[in-house]
Amino acid sequence: MDITRVAVIGTGTMGSGIAQTIAVAGIPVTMVDREQTIVDRAQQTIERQLRRGVERGRMSQDDAGVALSLIDTDISVDAAADADLVIEAVPEVQSMKNDIFARLDEVCRPDAILASNTSSISITSLGAATARPQRVIGMHFFNPVPLMELVEVVRGLQTTDDVVDTVVAFAGRLGKTPVAVNDFPGFISNRVLMPMINEAIFCLMEGVASAEAIDNVMRLGMKHPMGPLALADLIGLDVCLDILVVLQRDLGEDKYRPCPLLRKMVAAGRLGRKAHEGFYRYE
Ligand code: NAI
Repeated sequence: MDITRVAVIGTGTMGSGIAQTIAVAGIPVTMVDREQTIVDRAQQTIERQLRRGVERGRMSQDDAGVALSLIDTDISVDAAADADLVIEAVPEVQSMKNDIFARLDEVCRPDAILASNTSSISITSLGAATARPQRVIGMHFFNPVPLMELVEVVRGLQTTDDVVDTVVAFAGRLGKTPVAVNDFPGFISNRVLMPMINEAIFCLMEGVASAEAIDNVMRLGMKHPMGPLALADLIGLDVCLDILVVLQRDLGEDKYRPCPLLRKMVAAGRLGRKAHEGFYRYE
């Protein structure tokens, strides 16, 4: 199946980056959010990003103009009706995603592919909210989307080979490297990353070393570009906690038990960079 038109539902951090990447690849994309002010803000963000790309010589003025002309906006999910592929990027709340998938199933063509950018919700369960579970799949992008190379392509229990192949090829057209994984809690990325972040927080809580020292060990000794505590601040400590809760609950293993210090930081509102304070302070 050829993907000639895409709709992105939810235009926050991830949705706007995904729409930008699709438009830069020369593919028409409709961005949908709840309110006009929100989609307008997403469009302005994309314009700013493309302008910066032109200033830094990463793209020509003409190419930036073409990309912008390929984006349109709407405030109803119904605008996804003529899309070949829909990518959902609304907040990580199962009931919210279920409602969107049920609605998309009603308005989209029967052959359209419905994808979710979820970090931890079961693709199989989202498929079950529709009458086309074989055409439901995960496309897990990474932040910031235009820069990060990986897309985890997540195959639900009933997703067909043909849909996986189409989405893998589409991710390639976006200049990404797709990695196909099966639908298990946390996929690969968060199942491997979150226990490391959690263990770093346990080390801090137990007084093994300071936050800086823990991050230095992983940066300098393991060549990680960023230490696990700084990375947790970047991702958002609330997001990390939510993912660990899902891993522990759905895999049923105490090794994913969120560190009590992580829970305490979230309760205190010290959520990382977005709150200007997490394991570090941000001006
Ligand atoms: P965000 O909060 O920045 O954006 C979510 C957007 O969805 C908001 O603009 C909101 O207005 C919109 N929205 C809410 N209800 C809607 C509805 N009914 N219809 C249309 N739009 C609606 O969230 P973010 O960070 O972009 O995350 C989105 C998804 O991507 C989540 O599932 C998250 O787990 C996943 N994700 C996030 C990453 C990150 O680093 N932020 C990385 C990879 C995946």
